[in-house]
Amino acid sequence: MKFISKSLFVLVLVFSITNCSDKKETDKYGNTVEENSIPTTETTIDPLVAKGRELFEGKGTCTACHKPDVKVVGPSIKEITKIYKEKGASIASFINGEGEPIVDASQYEIMKANFVITKAMTSEERRALEIYMMSFE
Ligand code: HEC
Repeated sequence: MKFISKSLFVLVLVFSITNCSDKKETDKYGNTVEENSIPTTETTIDPLVAKGRELFEGKGTCTACHKPDVKVVGPSIKEITKIYKEKGASIASFINGEGEPIVDASQYEIMKANFVITKAMTSEERRALEIYMMSFE
């Protein structure tokens, strides 16, 4: 299943790249090309955004405590990235245990427990998580 949805994603991506002239809404068979649902501030979709989303919802288990708009256990993704953008801080560094909490220091211990997972990731995976989170407006 995962592989199929990945291939679909790549297909949509290829269509949107090769078909960027005037007919954006339909492909060459006249079918509507779905808008990509992954939020991004860029016009080109960074593969790291997709990778980051997979990690965020998958082995990172971040979704359990972070939703896009509402606070669950942790602050919402948008609340976090608003502050990170304002301060020019790096999520990738934070989840590697470098740096201080700048969003909600009083709850830091809960977040800190996840560093076991994020520190075991590669630096590219941590960067993908950062890019995915930062892609929310
Ligand atoms: C068990 C719940 C939980 C999970 C799972 C979790 N977080 Fe958090 N997270 C929190 C809480 C609570 C805070 C608020 C404390 C804080 O700001 O450090 C937080 C804060 C953060 C912050 C802001 C830190 C700051 O500067 O204050 C980032 C970035 C973050 N989480 C990223 C992640 C990522 C990425 C994952 C997945 C790898 C993740 N979180 C998984 C609970 C969680």
